[in-house]
Amino acid sequence: MLTTRPTGTNDFLPGESEKWQYIEQLCRQVCAEYGYQEIRLPIFEHTEAYLRSVGETSDIVEKEMYSFEDKGFRHMTLRPEGTAGTVRAFLENKLYANPQPTKLYYIGPMFRYDKPQAGRYRQFNQFGVEVFGADHAAIDAEVIALAVEIFRRLGLTGLTVKLNTVGCAQCRPSHMEELKIYFRQYEDKLCATCRDRLERNPLRILDCKEEGCKAVAKGAPTTIEAACDVCSAHFQKLQEYLDAIGVRYEIDTNLVRGLDYYTRTAFEIVIDSVGSAQNAIAGGGRYNGLLAQFGGDDLPGIGFAIGLERLLLTLKEQGIELPVSTAPAVYVAPLGESAQKEAFVLTQALREKGIYTEKDYLGKSLKAQMKAADRFHAKYTVILGDSELEKGMAIVREMTSGDQYEVQLNQLAEDLEGRLK
Ligand code: HAM
Repeated sequence: MLTTRPTGTNDFLPGESEKWQYIEQLCRQVCAEYGYQEIRLPIFEHTEAYLRSVGETSDIVEKEMYSFEDKGFRHMTLRPEGTAGTVRAFLENKLYANPQPTKLYYIGPMFRYDKPQAGRYRQFNQFGVEVFGADHAAIDAEVIALAVEIFRRLGLTGLTVKLNTVGCAQCRPSHMEELKIYFRQYEDKLCATCRDRLERNPLRILDCKEEGCKAVAKGAPTTIEAACDVCSAHFQKLQEYLDAIGVRYEIDTNLVRGLDYYTRTAFEIVIDSVGSAQNAIAGGGRYNGLLAQFGGDDLPGIGFAIGLERLLLTLKEQGIELPVSTAPAVYVAPLGESAQKEAFVLTQALREKGIYTEKDYLGKSLKAQMKAADRFHAKYTVILGDSELEKGMAIVREMTSGDQYEVQLNQLAEDLEGRLK
């Protein structure tokens, strides 16, 4: 146990962690260009926050939450997603008092007690955005475009934006009644989970993956058919805005999403390559009414989250190499004790110039140090031997060509700085 990580968690080792940094940096960059600011939130919240938002009938609340009672007997939950915490923070910190909309993003770990498999973990990371205070379909189109832009910059292909409108407080109640009437006729053909959903949340039957339920759901009244005029007009406008910027999408009438807070826009971005079940790389939608459920003013909201593990898996599957490098520009190879100290001073001087420099710490032979420099893929190796030191000189070797030259020690840092520019 001591050397085994918990099921469904991952260690990201050097070599892999640079890719995470690259992706996180890209997300931050795109957010800066679209005007989204970072919010950093607790990793646990009061359990109530998720019951109220994600919803009592969702898989997350029913089966997947890491909940615990703290030493003060308060019910807490490790965050399974980022929307509830962001809504809580928006209200608690009175961000609604600022000019609206408020455009936020977050990056960090989420926790769901799910059955682990490729692309599905118990601790996973999301990059997500949330926008509060804007109802216009242009903002729905903007958040979808932001997600697509991140994937575009990474060079991902085979990506489909699936889009639906899932109704609102006006049109959903009558649609739910219609769905109950419809599905009751086929109750015996539904899976056990959907039979249970029938009275509590029949909408979820629409996106059940069981074949029997899928067949029955085909004939069910869709959310698009049931949409009120306002939802229909909003959905229409969203499509016009996406068309205007060339973001392609497919309408999927069965897409209702697994969290209960969605109203109107619901979307997922799926990639063909990540196994068949775990192909949603991002998901989101509008959640008008959620802020009011938290006791705030009834401001609208919309957002999405990308699953970063799934994103990395997809990059790997598509053979996309991120431009990350861990190679030092300079490797300093001293020979002998007096050279060790000189090498240490030189290493520090190069680092102060912002040059990534490595050195030997183990007193290796010159041959072993040259091997190490090769393994590091260093651009230059500086060889400091006793005879060179006596002359106040060092040998610099350009590693790809093998060319060597001598430089005066007191000019070495400037020389290398100039060559590496
Ligand atoms: P979600 O669809 O539950 O939505 O999760 C978003 C993404 O997180 C998924 O598309 C998937 O890539 C990733 N993900 C979910 N569960 C796992 C898991 N167990 N292992 C690995 N990756 C996973 C939400 O979380 C919403 N809060 C999104 C949102 C923001 N809606 C509005 N604003």
